[in-house]
Amino acid sequence: MESYKNDVALILSKYINIDIEKIKELVETPNKKGFGDLAFPTFTQAKEYRKAPPLIAKEIVDSLEELPQTISKAENVGPYINFYINNSVLIEKTVKEVLDKGANYGGEDQGEGKTVVIDFSAPNIAKPFGIGHLRSTVIGNSLYKIHEFFGYKVVGINHIGDWGTQFGKVIVAYDKWGNDDELERDPVKYLYQLYVKFHDEAEKNPDLEEEAREVFKELEEGVDDRVKKWKLFRELSLAEYNRIYEKLNVTFDSFKGEQFYNDKMTDTIETLISKGITEISKGALIINLDMFDIPPVLLRKKDGATLYATRDLCAAIYRKETYDFDKMLYVVGSEQSLHFKQLFKALAIAGFEWHKDCQHVPFGLFRFKEQKMSTRKGTLIFLDEVLSKAEQLTKDIIEEKNPNLPNKDEVARQVGIGAIIFGDLSNDRVKDVVFDWDKILDFNGETAPYVQYSHARICSILRKHSGQITNWDASLMKSEYEFGLAKRIANFNVVINDALRDLKPSIVARYLLDLAKDFNRFYHNCPVLKEENDSLKGARLKLIAATGQVLKNGLSLLGIEAPEEM
Ligand code: ARG
Repeated sequence: MESYKNDVALILSKYINIDIEKIKELVETPNKKGFGDLAFPTFTQAKEYRKAPPLIAKEIVDSLEELPQTISKAENVGPYINFYINNSVLIEKTVKEVLDKGANYGGEDQGEGKTVVIDFSAPNIAKPFGIGHLRSTVIGNSLYKIHEFFGYKVVGINHIGDWGTQFGKVIVAYDKWGNDDELERDPVKYLYQLYVKFHDEAEKNPDLEEEAREVFKELEEGVDDRVKKWKLFRELSLAEYNRIYEKLNVTFDSFKGEQFYNDKMTDTIETLISKGITEISKGALIINLDMFDIPPVLLRKKDGATLYATRDLCAAIYRKETYDFDKMLYVVGSEQSLHFKQLFKALAIAGFEWHKDCQHVPFGLFRFKEQKMSTRKGTLIFLDEVLSKAEQLTKDIIEEKNPNLPNKDEVARQVGIGAIIFGDLSNDRVKDVVFDWDKILDFNGETAPYVQYSHARICSILRKHSGQITNWDASLMKSEYEFGLAKRIANFNVVINDALRDLKPSIVARYLLDLAKDFNRFYHNCPVLKEENDSLKGARLKLIAATGQVLKNGLSLLGIEAPEEM
């Protein structure tokens, strides 16, 4: 919590008969100059005191005793009590706190002892890891880091799509048209090509569909040759996914995919039947959800096959038993909203109280300019190609801007990948993202490179100064640029609280843009290395060191690295 807001709430709580948390909610941050840095409206108190709000404001101000260090002045203006922050105290306190806590600055322990399961990424084998799964991966990864930062134990699960009728199709296609060498060379893409070919051929020859269903059934029954192929496809695909995760710097605690639940399904189905919530409809086993006005969950088809939803019910129960989570998040596109509504309702009527701890975290589509995605038609863009392109484009920019940079390749990776992650995360997740190369790589735009560059610039200034900063006096910093920057830094923890509450990394991303802008404004107006007064120079160096730390902490919560030179 902003330290100064806490202080203001604390003073007020001595005079006003409401809860301190409520006071914090009521305290406003005026946009206009001359109305204080924080303002408390007294309207809410009129009833209790039976007085006009301006009078209440005046009486409180008149009776205020000593103000805390962070507050320099309190005055009543109409119905408001306006508080002014003691700038130099705030700056000094904030800077000291950041430099003292370092990588932990902004973190909390509110999650101590609690476990959160986050289900994210989950690409489908035999279909490519398309750019569509990128959103889930980066949003999920950021939510992972944000929870961890607040002390939660986090379990990241990659619920790989490694089961389902598509395997019947790919195995049929491979048997008919497949080639081992090509499979080894580029498995994900090759399996996808086979998948596309299958659909093309099936349009001419509908019997193929039946054949694929038959093959999938054999796979489910454990027919040796089918299982062997499935294993091979899965292994090769996972190896390739892992290369992508490595590039993105994303890790998981579990790769238990859909297939893992295959032999647990009978138990789950029996449990659900024993609870009396299932019925047979046209030969299929379903959970009727008519009373909630949503379509039924299909548990088992007439031919005995289970479905995506069955596996998710099974997985949820398994995870509760295994991790005893306090919260479980599913980071999955909004096109699956109905699926999760059905899933949670089914858990609810089955009497699993913890259904209310499960939450779908939806997001919109990710599109390239002028392109729609369809797995079947083959118009998909491959994520690894996108990542390589980002690295290459960034390398070109670096060659132009800073050809002597020592570790160009590594920096190009950090910046290129960062640009993609940020290009996604800086948008509100529920909205669709239109992906535009020029925009996301613009070093002066609202991008990762802009934030990273601000950080690298700070590192470079600190390198040039070298040596300890022993002499510094925060009270010499009097400009709005310095104060604005410090205030922004002091607000970091509030921002992360908001991001956690709304499960929106975009809140952190927007904050970092603001912080980087505040820094650049400051740097444009206030000399640092060239400042002649040593104590002021020292203070400014401290302030930018704190800024650099917060930029780095924030980027890391998005899963983005912060190179020291670029
Ligand atoms: N593999 C699925 C898809 O691509 C996403 C899985 C999400 N997680 C889950 N537990 N349903 O559509």
